[in-house]
This record gives sequence, structure tokens and C-alpha cells, in this order.
Amino acid sequence: MLKESMPKMERHLFHSVLLILILLTLVSLNLTGLAWTIPDCIIADSLLFPNLSSYIPFCTLAPRLHLLASCSNVKNINQTLEKVPRNTEVLCLQGMVPTLPANAFDGFYSLQLLRLQLGTTNITSRTFQGLDQLQYLFFEHHAPCCLSLFLPPDSLESLRSLSSLSFQGYCLTYSHSIYLPTTLRHLTMRNSCLTKLQELQRLFPDLLLGASSTPNTKPRTPFLEVLDLSYNLQLKQAGIRDLYGLTLHSLILDGTPLRALDLTSSGLLHLHFLSLVGTGIEKLPASVTGFSELCALDLGKNQIQNILGNGDILGLKALKFLSLHDNHLQSLPVRFLRTLPQLQKLNLSMNKLGPILELPEGLFSTNLTVLDLSHNQLCEIPRGNFSFLSQLQELWLSGNNISSLSNESLQGLRWLRTLDLSWNQIKVLKPGWLSHLPALTTLNLLGTYLEHISGTQLQGPKMLRHLQLGSFPTLEIYRLWFPMLLSLEIQAETYIQFMVPSGEPFLFLENLTLETSNLLLEPKTTTIHFPSLRRLTLRGYSIFLSTSQLQSFFPPQLPLLEYFFVWCRNDDAVDLHLFEMPRLRVLELGNLNFFYESSTVKLEMLLNEVPQLQVLALSHLNLKNLSVSSFKGLQSLKLLLLNSERALEMNSNLQELIPQIPQYVYFSDVTFACQCETSWLESWATRAPNTFVYGLEKPICMANASDYSKTLLFSFLATNCPHGTEFWGFLTSFSLLLLLIILPLISCHKWSWLHHLWTLFHTCWWKLGGHRLRGQFNYDVFISYCEEDQDWVLEELVPVLEKAPPEGEGLRLCLPARDFGIGNDRMESMIASMGKSRAILCVLTGQALASPWCNLELRLATYHLIARPGTTCLLLLFLEPLDRQKLHSYHRLSRWLQKEDYFDLSQGKMEWNTFCEQLKQRLRKARKERED
Ligand SMILES: *[C@@H]1O[C@H](CO)[C@@H](O)[C@H](O)[C@H]1NC(C)=O
Ligand SMILES: *[C@@H]1O[C@H](CO)[C@@H](O)[C@H](O)[C@H]1NC(C)=O
Ligand SMILES: *[C@@H]1O[C@H](CO)[C@@H](O)[C@H](O)[C@H]1NC(C)=O
Ligand SMILES: *[C@@H]1O[C@H](CO)[C@@H](O)[C@H](O)[C@H]1NC(C)=O
Ligand SMILES: *[C@@H]1O[C@H](CO)[C@@H](O)[C@H](O)[C@H]1NC(C)=O
Ligand SMILES: *[C@@H]1O[C@H](CO)[C@@H](O)[C@H](O)[C@H]1NC(C)=O
Repeated sequence: MLKESMPKMERHLFHSVLLILILLTLVSLNLTGLAWTIPDCIIADSLLFPNLSSYIPFCTLAPRLHLLASCSNVKNINQTLEKVPRNTEVLCLQGMVPTLPANAFDGFYSLQLLRLQLGTTNITSRTFQGLDQLQYLFFEHHAPCCLSLFLPPDSLESLRSLSSLSFQGYCLTYSHSIYLPTTLRHLTMRNSCLTKLQELQRLFPDLLLGASSTPNTKPRTPFLEVLDLSYNLQLKQAGIRDLYGLTLHSLILDGTPLRALDLTSSGLLHLHFLSLVGTGIEKLPASVTGFSELCALDLGKNQIQNILGNGDILGLKALKFLSLHDNHLQSLPVRFLRTLPQLQKLNLSMNKLGPILELPEGLFSTNLTVLDLSHNQLCEIPRGNFSFLSQLQELWLSGNNISSLSNESLQGLRWLRTLDLSWNQIKVLKPGWLSHLPALTTLNLLGTYLEHISGTQLQGPKMLRHLQLGSFPTLEIYRLWFPMLLSLEIQAETYIQFMVPSGEPFLFLENLTLETSNLLLEPKTTTIHFPSLRRLTLRGYSIFLSTSQLQSFFPPQLPLLEYFFVWCRNDDAVDLHLFEMPRLRVLELGNLNFFYESSTVKLEMLLNEVPQLQVLALSHLNLKNLSVSSFKGLQSLKLLLLNSERALEMNSNLQELIPQIPQYVYFSDVTFACQCETSWLESWATRAPNTFVYGLEKPICMANASDYSKTLLFSFLATNCPHGTEFWGFLTSFSLLLLLIILPLISCHKWSWLHHLWTLFHTCWWKLGGHRLRGQFNYDVFISYCEEDQDWVLEELVPVLEKAPPEGEGLRLCLPARDFGIGNDRMESMIASMGKSRAILCVLTGQALASPWCNLELRLATYHLIARPGTTCLLLLFLEPLDRQKLHSYHRLSRWLQKEDYFDLSQGKMEWNTFCEQLKQRLRKARKERED
């Protein structure tokens, strides 16, 4: 249309302008657009690697949200947000921002959680405009209390999905009549300066509709479920009546000085959950009414010594959950407990109920399913103590002083599923002690003093799924035979010895954690199979635990293993060339120091075994040196974390990997070697295409291991390495490449090339944007040659490759002169055909290099190779002796090409047959690579 309607000259003008625009866009795209490293920000996908937060601090997450951005030292919000990925689900901002302007979060349509720690901030009515998906909004300020925050009445109006709103350490003194979205379920004003509950009414009139004297004005259904007013240290009892009409499920008043049990008089009759943790309560009042609907009451961390219950005076008839955790109870409040007919869950941990606890019959309701008696200095469990708790499903007895258990201790717990006896003084487990627990699925015996344990000792439960065993300092395990076990954790400081009969005791085991220095197996000839193992964690592993120990313990292949975590003890050298793990996704290695002699080689060997690896976290490995060879095979790597490394050398050859470098790279507590080799790092860190890099804002470098001068790497580079422009050269090469393509064409003096260029740019641009064409390959080989060499190509080369096997290879070739349809645009066809070919073979002669078309083809091929690593293979065939240095971008090419990618047929350097054989082999390999 354009072509027809425009006069020729104007069209040229139009094209020129278009061209300039495209070039500008491309240049800016290359130099800034693809970079998303942001100073002071952490970008993460916590789904990829949930344990990332153990290495790198980032803000809390809500369940199910995994794309997060967390920025600190924020001063200018627009500047910070400019580069934060727009699809982020969680955004945490910490800094000093006096004003959050209107539409501050424009474009963040996926944002679901926003946490602001921005000091004293002015919010406007339209600050949160457009955040339709936002569910959680947190304003936080940590001590000292409190900062002032002003919220215009309508500032939250646009938040149509908001379900949780929280103010912590802020006073809303000057705000009033704040509109709350009807989706709101959870409102928190923690550590604020509320003194009276009436203030809530002023702030959020919507909340207390029932209190309104004119109930007919705009009726809105009560919506709030949880109101959290904890740590309002000045909150007074007065005005509690004003909460009348507030319909809530839960009220949290932790750490307030309210004598809150009198709250009942306020008419909060429908309260389901009341939390009064740490309010200094010493006694429960003798008589309260109005709690008839209360289901859950948390009185943890108070000073309750006794509860005087007399009949049903407390009126907690409906109570299902009661926590008296961390109080001063010395005996069970028997009479009180007897008044709770519905009680299902009782938490009495961290009191002083020991040393002997007798549970009188009829003490608990028959509904009790969870009983927590941990940390109570219990020494003994009288026989039959739990015999009337037949409904009990969970019994927590951790951290007591129990030394022995027999079958009579646990009699009657017919439905018990979880038993936690960890960190007691258990020295003896009498045979058959579990015989009365047929329903047990989870047993925790960490921190015992058992030296051996045998499978027969754990007989009784028919469905044990999760088992934890631990002892000081050694543990011998005999005939543990639980084919149904899903998770197993064993700890013993010095060694764990397994005595396994032949067979497969862990047929379904998915999670295995071993924490010990030594792992022994008896008899030595057995191998334990773990056909279902998905997560393997080895901690505390030492030099004594050699590879051979591990190799004899585990089978040569762990076919389903997805997650492997190894953390050694200090200074222990272990070779981890272990087993095949074809499905491994996450590998975490810590403290191995096993790289002390030839680090890269070992890392390389290890990484060879894990083709599917997505996450690699290396901690404290004493790596010394990272180079390209270690990472070459890791095509699926998405996250690389380096933690606690000293004087790390980052070889400049790593640049070759740049297009395939993982999406997330984190350096935490890493110092680099002071050397110019590293000079590419700076430009890469700030402009890495498609990679988020964290931890290279102010890297330190060390001249040697004992250099603690804290030299800044980048200042070292600036003063000592004047030619730090290598990376720039690389980065701009895409643009330059394209510019250079134009030059031979300009000599054509034809305007029609502009149209070609447009097509070319369009294609390249599209691909740069990451839209990869993963479609089928129509051809095996695209052959690029110049007209002068056509005879040789058609008569010698093509027959060898095209002829059907066994003489030939039966390859599908694409030859421009033959296969481009007549009348088709040559440039367009070339781009398309190259994209659809598994390999590109360039036939190079002096004539070819002199021809603009051949040069262009070579450049395009180079572009394909670099921009789409792993999808294209470029082969160079020299028919004549050529000075390779003359080859355009030879230096770069030499990085990307391997020796087997060059074929030199000039001056009889290679036998024709050898050449054919090698070429076929190389093409077969390429085909295989593309197909995998
Ligand atoms: C996560 O990493 C830390 C080391 O920083 C380690 O102690 C912890 O056990 C790991 N968590 C899991 C679940 O492996
Ligand atoms: C917030 O806004 C008010 C009124 O617009 C202004 O007086 C005050 O100085 C502002 N505060 C800050 C920190 O900018
Ligand atoms: C008992 O309360 C403590 C403190 O809140 C908590 O850590 C523990 O998990 C609770 N026990 C159970 C069984 O929920
Ligand atoms: C735990 O029991 C041991 C004896 O088994 C005793 O020596 C120790 O004092 C007890 N500790 C407590 C806190 O009761
Ligand atoms: C408990 O174990 C002892 C000794 O093994 C046995 O004699 C007794 O019958 C068992 N008691 C019950 C109730 O199973
Ligand atoms: C294995 O461990 C992971 C991570 O701790 C956990 O999410 C999963 O539920 C465990 N699986 C089993 C069967 O215990």
C-alpha cells in the first residue's frame, strides 16, 4: 500500500528515516534495553530455588508468589522502578522516599504484594492507581516507633483485590475516613500509636458499621476477618465498647497492656480467635462471660501460674484450640481443662509440668487430637498415661528429659500419627515400645543417646512414612526395613553405620538426609538402591568420608534425583565425581574445598553428569577460578549462585557464554582476583543481556590470599587495565555487524536494498527480543558459497552430502541458487533458510571474501551463531589458502568455533575422503545436538 501510494523519492526518504530509527533502536536495545541489573535490587524467582533466601536476604513472601523484586536504599522511586521487571509479583522497597507520586507503580499489573519501608512518606490519592491485582499492602517501619504517615481517604480505592493491609511502626494521626476495599480480610496496625480503640472508628469508619447510630446509611456487609493491633503499647481499655458492632473472626492483641479478657463486655460476641500473647497476664479472671463462641485462644508467653477454673465460669464452651505455651504452669489446670468439652488442640509447651506428669482420666475432651508437652522437664511417662487419649493424632514431647520408653508408656494411642521425642535423654527403647501405635506415620527420634537401633525396635506402626533418627556420637542401624518410608533423616556426629541385608529397603524413599562425618555400610558388598530418591542432603561430611564410601553406599545412578545438597565440614577435600543424576535440577555444594588442586577440572567433571541442571549454588568451595569449560554443557542452567569465595578469577573466556549465561546470577560475599582478565565483568554486570546479576555493585578484589586492603575491583580495573573495552566490543558487535552489512550493499547504488534491510532488521530485532523460533528445521545444511565456486559445490560437495546412504548422507541441503524460488527476495529467503537449517556451511575462497553477497552470508551466519547459541552450527570450509585474520570477525568466530568446525581443503591439506568422513561426522553430531 505504502509503496503504491507514495512517490518514489518520498519513499526513499521514508526508508532512510525508518532505517535510522531502526538503527537507533537496535543500538539502544543492545546497550541498555536488555539489561536488567539494578543497583541495590534483588530480583529472584523463588520457585526456581526456594533456598535462595538462606544466601541472600530478601523480603518475606506470601505463599504462591515467587517472582520478586526487593530494592534497598531507594531514593528516587521512578529511577528504581524503571528497570524492575514489570511482571514481578512481589515488590519490596526500602529507603527514604518523601513522596510516592500518582501512578508510582504504573505498569506493574501483576503486582500482588507491595511492602514499603520508605520512612515518612506522602501518599497521594492516586499513588496506587492501576494495582488491580494487589492483595497485600504493607507499610513498615522498624523501631523506634513511630513515623507519621498520611493516607488520603480515597488512596486505597483503586485496590480492588486488596485482602491484607498492614501498618507497622506508623501512626496515622492525621488521616481519617480511609476507605477500605470490601475485599479486605486482614487489617494490621502493629506497633503503632493507638491509644484508644475509638481511633479505629475515625480512621476506618467502614469497620464499625454496627456502632453507627444511623444504621440505614449505605449498608455494607461486614467483611474484616482478622484485626491485628499487637504491640500498641499505649492501648487503653477505654473505649472498648466502641468496638461494638465490629464483626471479626480474629482479634490479635499481642503485647498490648489491655486487660483484654474484659473485652467480652465490648460485645465481640462473635469472635472466633483471640490472641493475647505476651500481654503479661498472670491469672485468668475467675469469671468472664461472652466468650461462648470463641474457638481459639492463644495465651502464650504470659506469666500464668495457675488457672482457677470453677465449673464453667469461663464459659469457653466452644473452645477448640488453646495455647498456654511459655507460661509458668507447674501443674495441669485440671479443673479448667475439664470445662473445655470441645478442645481439640492444646499447646502446653515450655512450662514446668515435669518431672512426672500424670494425666488423670477424663481430663481432656475426647476430641483432643493435638497435645504439645515439649520442653516441660518431663523425665518419666507413667505407664498407660495416654491410654484414654485414643483420638490423639499428634503428641509432641521434644526437649524433655525422658530416658526410656516401653510399650506401656504409649499404650492406647491407637490413632496417633505423629510422635516427636526428639532431644530427650533416650538411652533405651524397650522392644515393642511402638507396638501400640499402629497408625503412626511420623516419628522423630533426633538427639537421642541410642548407639544402635534396629528395625525390629521400630516395629508396630504399619504406615511409617517419615522417620528421623539421631544420636551422639555414633549410630549403628541394623536391618532398617521400611520400604514404605518416604523421608528419612539420620544424624550422628562421628559415623552412621548401616547393616543392611540384601534387598531394597528404601523402595519409595523420596527425601534422604544424612548428617555425619562417615558413612559405613556392612556388609561391604551390598548396594542400597534408591529408585525413588528425589532429594538428597549430605551434611557434615568429612575427609574420612571419601568418594569411595559414598560410591559404595549409593548406586551408580540416582535416576529421579532432582535436588542434591552437600555441605562438608571445613577443610575437607572430597572428590564429588559420584553418580549419574540425569534428572538433577538443583545442586548446592558447600564447604567442600575439594577443588584445592585442580578446581575447574573437578567442577567440570561433576557438571558433566547433570545435563538438566537449572540451579547451581556453590558456597565456600575455594574455587579460585571459573572458566567457560565448567558451564558449557549446562544448557538449562537458570540460576547460578556463588557464595563465600575468595580471590575468584573470572576468566575472560566466560564472555563467550554471555548469551546463554543463566537468567539469574548471584554473587554473595565473593571477592575477586585483582587482574585485568576480569575487566569484562563490569560492563557485563550492568548490561548483561537477559541476565539479572546481583552482588557486583562494589566488588572487592584481592591481590593474593592475604590481601585485606579491600581494593575495589572496578577502581583497580580502571587504573590498571586501560583496555577494558573488550566486552563493549562484543556487545556493540550486533549493531556493528548490521551496520557493516550495509556497506557492501551501498556500493550497489540501488535503493531496493533498503527493503531488504528492513526485512533483515525486522528479523534480527525480533530474535534479539528473545522470541526464539524453535520450530522445525527444513534443511540439514545451508550452503553458502559465491558464484565463482558454484561448480565445485554442485559437482563435488553436493553429491557426497545429498546422495542417499550408504554412499552419501542423504542430507537435505539448501543451495541459494537452486532452492530459492524464482522471484523470491534473495535476502528474505536467505534469512529464512538459515533459520531453518541445522547447520550453515560457508565455502570460503578469495573470491568469496571479495563478494559482498558471500560476506553478507558469512556475517549473517555469524549472527545466527552468536544470537542463537545452541540452535545453529557454523562450519567453515577453506578451499584456498586464506589469511584467516582477514576473515570478518575472525577473532570472535574463533571463540565460538571448535577445531572440528574448520575444514581446510586448500593445497591438499586434507584427503578428500577424510574430509568427507569428517564433514559427515560433524553434521551428524550437529543433527544430534539439535534434536536433543
Ligand atoms: C539452605 O542452605 C543453607 C546454607 O546456607 C543450609 O544450611 C540449609 O540446610 C539449606 N536448606 C535446605 C532445605 O537444604
Ligand atoms: C507531604 O505533603 C504535605 C502537604 O502536601 C507537605 O506539607 C509535607 O511537607 C509533605 N511531606 C514531605 C515529607 O514531603
Ligand atoms: C506450640 O506453640 C509454640 C509457640 O507458638 C509453637 O512453636 C509450636 O509449634 C506449637 N505446637 C504445636 C504442636 O503446634
Ligand atoms: C535429666 O535427667 C538426668 C538423669 O537422667 C538428670 O541428671 C538431669 O538433672 C535431668 N535434667 C533436668 C533438667 O531435669
Ligand atoms: C510389653 O512388652 C513386654 C515385654 O516385651 C510384654 O511382656 C508385654 O506383654 C507388653 N505389653 C503389652 C501391653 O503389649
Ligand atoms: C521432601 O522435602 C521437601 C522439602 O523439604 C518437602 O517439600 C517434601 O514434602 C518432602 N517430601 C516428603 C515425601 O517428605
